[in-house]
Amino acid sequence: MATVRFYRGELLLGVTEVNPEIPLIELAEAIGVDIPRNCTSGNCGTCMCRLKSGEVILPEILPAGIDEDYIEDGAILTCIGFAKDSVDIDLIPPL
Ligand code: FES
Repeated sequence: MATVRFYRGELLLGVTEVNPEIPLIELAEAIGVDIPRNCTSGNCGTCMCRLKSGEVILPEILPAGIDEDYIEDGAILTCIGFAKDSVDIDLIPPL
C-alpha cells in the first residue's frame, strides 16, 4: 500500500493511504494531523511543509505561496499538493 506519512521533525504523527485526488492537507486532517492553513489556494504559504522523501505534484504554474527556490529547499504546499505514490512529509517547513 502506498502511504503518506506525516512527521514533525523525526516524530511520526500519522500515516494514511495515498489518494491522488485529495490534497495532502485534507489527508492529514482526516487522520487528526493539523497543518496550519489560511487561503487553501496556494497563495499564502501557511500550509508549507517539507518533503522528506517521495514526490509531490504541484501545479505547473506555481501560485504566489511558493517558488522554485523554496522547492529546491524541499518545500511543498500541502493545500495544493498531491501524492501519487508514497511520500514522507515533515510539518516543519524548510525555512
Ligand atoms: S493554505 Fe495558503 S498556501 Fe496553502
